[in-house]
Amino acid sequence: MRRVSTSSEAARGRLRVAVLLSGRGSNLKALIDGAARQAAGYELVGAFSDRREAPGLAFATAAGIPVAVFEPRAFPDKAAYEAAMFGAVEAVGAELVVLAGYMRIVSPATVAAWQGRLVNIHPSLLPAYRGLDTHTRVLADGGSVHGASVHYVTAELDGGPVLMQVEIAVLPADTPETIAARLLPREHALLVAAVDLIAQGRVGLAGEVLSVDGRMLERPIALATPSPTAARSDHPARS
Ligand code: GRF
Repeated sequence: MRRVSTSSEAARGRLRVAVLLSGRGSNLKALIDGAARQAAGYELVGAFSDRREAPGLAFATAAGIPVAVFEPRAFPDKAAYEAAMFGAVEAVGAELVVLAGYMRIVSPATVAAWQGRLVNIHPSLLPAYRGLDTHTRVLADGGSVHGASVHYVTAELDGGPVLMQVEIAVLPADTPETIAARLLPREHALLVAAVDLIAQGRVGLAGEVLSVDGRMLERPIALATPSPTAARSDHPARS
């Protein structure tokens, strides 16, 4: 069956998305797979890394997505590095930048220049556990619920408004490794769902206040848990 697009979709076209990563790139791979769906509202226009040896870049190369590497040590300072990196992102016409395992803090000036067009995926239920080693920290605290968040990036580390989250239970026998293994596929579904929602033009950001479909978002959208009987159904629950 042919997909019938609405006039607004046709006018908008697919959202042009760039991904920044430093390592494994499983979230990039999830976005690549997501973009291959006929109904996807976004396309990937580039993968950018601060590390030449980042394994995840191979996913982009295999999918025919342009790849560029900017190593900070090749630049006199962070401002010059980011000017080159984000200049290249701009040059591919990116409308949204996704930080997916990008292990550097983006400077306030760059954050300001990309405000509302820069999102990050973080492995915790923000505002809990900003920063690193989130799985270890939730276990050390005896937490029973953990998860991941997609948020807009602000100058405050992992502090920007959260669009969407996915929860998992912490189990008695969990280790950081078992949590990571269980959470990662849910992160992938979360990131694709969040980028889809943005690509549909349904998300607004005014200052640090998010809206979806014109209504202020009072709490992050919760990604629905897939039913064990249904085929994959990673549609976000309505807020
Ligand atoms: C993910 O856990 C993501 O939440 C965090 O860094 C990790 C990146 O994994 N920001 P990958 O490189 O996408 O596999």
